[in-house]
Amino acid sequence: ATTLKDALKDYFYIGTALNVPQVAGQDPQAIEIVKTHFNSVVAENCMKMMYLQPEEGVFFWDEADAFIEFAEANDMQVIGHTLVWHSQAPRWMFVDENGDQVSRERLIERMKTHVQTVVERYKGRVHGWDVVNETILDDGSWRQSPWVRIIGPEFVQMAFEFAHEIDPDVELYYNDYSVSRPEKRDGIYNMVKDLIDNGVKIDAVGLQGHLSMDFPTVEMKEEALQKLASLGVKVMVTEMDITVLPWPSRRHSAEVSLNYEISDEYNPYPNGLSEESYTALMDKYVDFFEMFMRNKDIISRVTVWGVDDNQSWRNNWPIRGRTDYPLLFDRDYQPKSAVTRIIELANAK
Ligand code: G3I
Repeated sequence: ATTLKDALKDYFYIGTALNVPQVAGQDPQAIEIVKTHFNSVVAENCMKMMYLQPEEGVFFWDEADAFIEFAEANDMQVIGHTLVWHSQAPRWMFVDENGDQVSRERLIERMKTHVQTVVERYKGRVHGWDVVNETILDDGSWRQSPWVRIIGPEFVQMAFEFAHEIDPDVELYYNDYSVSRPEKRDGIYNMVKDLIDNGVKIDAVGLQGHLSMDFPTVEMKEEALQKLASLGVKVMVTEMDITVLPWPSRRHSAEVSLNYEISDEYNPYPNGLSEESYTALMDKYVDFFEMFMRNKDIISRVTVWGVDDNQSWRNNWPIRGRTDYPLLFDRDYQPKSAVTRIIELANAK
């Protein structure tokens, strides 16, 4: 096999995230890569709550419809991202008509309406939903988001049940980042175990996989994947990318946002990676994929968070306008050497 999706066919689905301009046909070279190498797609932004329901009761479907039509026309698995998240939730969701905090009953009702309207619309067309995203913090405790503060941790179970009620066949996932951190991994393990003990249908846990060069190690991630899979659910890598950029200090981020200036220290590779950094990055990708292949019995999908380096959110986070190299295809839409190496590795087994 000479493409990622063919080489990895007997291992897991290989996916990528698509943005709105790509689906709209404004980036044909990226779309060519998607059609050649990937068999699963997820919408990077357009299925998030604030885009789908910008005002209460007013749904905007155009971009999500286009995304799903693209996937169907190209015979790809469709992943829905994401039904309930603290980020990119519309402001109105948490306030009443007086501008006060919405009541618990009303928020549950609003969550139910959102989840069920969206799941209903794409019933039979979405393979699986990220039902709840990022509700456990790095130390394993509950993020004090409006969902948790107003409804309580039970909002998670409710969200899964609302979705399941509408589409009993669709797969339902919990999705989060930094799951390799032992405290966080265990917090998620406990939450998922409670869901299972309460009879909730949950099909998989998604580990986002936004990596940096020094965290996590392959061993840490493998341990997290295996521990969560021991609950009897599938595991998936849902948003993989690897940044080579340093993490700026809080003070530096504040200065940059005021001055719009990024020092070389924080943007060390504006014109390309050194050979040494490139090789280290490629090795890291290959090492992780080698581990994923070894764990193919528990991993149902590996998705990278974007097609090519031009488009990655990493260039703009936590400060805007840097040059990062986090994906498998470069700024000229060429496959990096890791692509060939992953294909060879998959063919060899
Ligand atoms: O579309 C507007 C555009 O009209 C406007 O001019 C521009 C100016 O800021 O903003 C554009 O919206 C941006 C949007 O991406 C589309 O590009 C938002 O500001 C920006 O906040 C948003 O960022 C997204 C981020 O989630 C939001 O939290 C990233 O693209 C997306 O990659 C990122 O994805 C998340 C996953 O959903 C969950 N896990 C972490 C992951 C990375 O942060």
